[in-house]
Amino acid sequence: MRQVIVAGNWKMNTNKAEGEALVSGLKEGLGQTSAEVIVFPPFPYLGGIAAAADGSPIQMGSQDVYIEDNGAFTGEVSTAMLKDVGCSHVLVGHSERRHVLGECNTLINKKTRKGLEDGLKVVLCVGELFEERQAWQMESVLNEQMSWGLAGVTAEQMSDVVIAYEPVWAIGTGLTASPAQAEEAHLYLRKWLELHYSSEVAENTRILYGGSVKPDNAAELIGQPNVDGALVGGASLKADSFLGIIAGAG
Ligand code: PGA
Repeated sequence: MRQVIVAGNWKMNTNKAEGEALVSGLKEGLGQTSAEVIVFPPFPYLGGIAAAADGSPIQMGSQDVYIEDNGAFTGEVSTAMLKDVGCSHVLVGHSERRHVLGECNTLINKKTRKGLEDGLKVVLCVGELFEERQAWQMESVLNEQMSWGLAGVTAEQMSDVVIAYEPVWAIGTGLTASPAQAEEAHLYLRKWLELHYSSEVAENTRILYGGSVKPDNAAELIGQPNVDGALVGGASLKADSFLGIIAGAG
């Protein structure tokens, strides 16, 4: 039985006080949940968020990481720095990093491997553009992003990998994949894991859906057999809506 994950990607939002208040609100309202809850705040607020989340089951990750340990890499942040301030997870390959910041599959692969080697859990994001879906290329895009993203990642390391399927056309647009569309893509990804690793890896890897998840659609999406939780952007910025999604996750 795969434990559901509800993760909040805050992107470049909140200020210090808002972020800490958001986590305090989550902590107070969380109650009993069987879901793993992870927040991904902006870099400058990680330390404060870790302190605000202290004593709760809320885990924290960063939205990015660099592939070297230290040195002349102006503006970059290492795995050790992230662990130092309390991160257990890192997001890699988010569509905004791929399509807005121009990250290529090679760099995404290096980040995935570096995160895993240094003891971070990696949430690897994959997903097709609208034009690619229209051109029936969803599977080939997912195959390419999975093959590159996970190149050199061992079956053993896969226990620290979470896949997030985020169709780019559904991110921040209010357009959500239907539960059937999400399930179709997730099933493809699970079969991919079976083919390239093993049925055990396929069975155990959590595959999250992301793209306009809201309290009113979360339960149905997460209720699909191969959808193991949600990666939430906009609706993770208010404690009430994020808690509503967590409640819908069971
Ligand atoms: P959204 O973002 O929920 O605002 O669509 C999801 C994401 O980018 O992770």
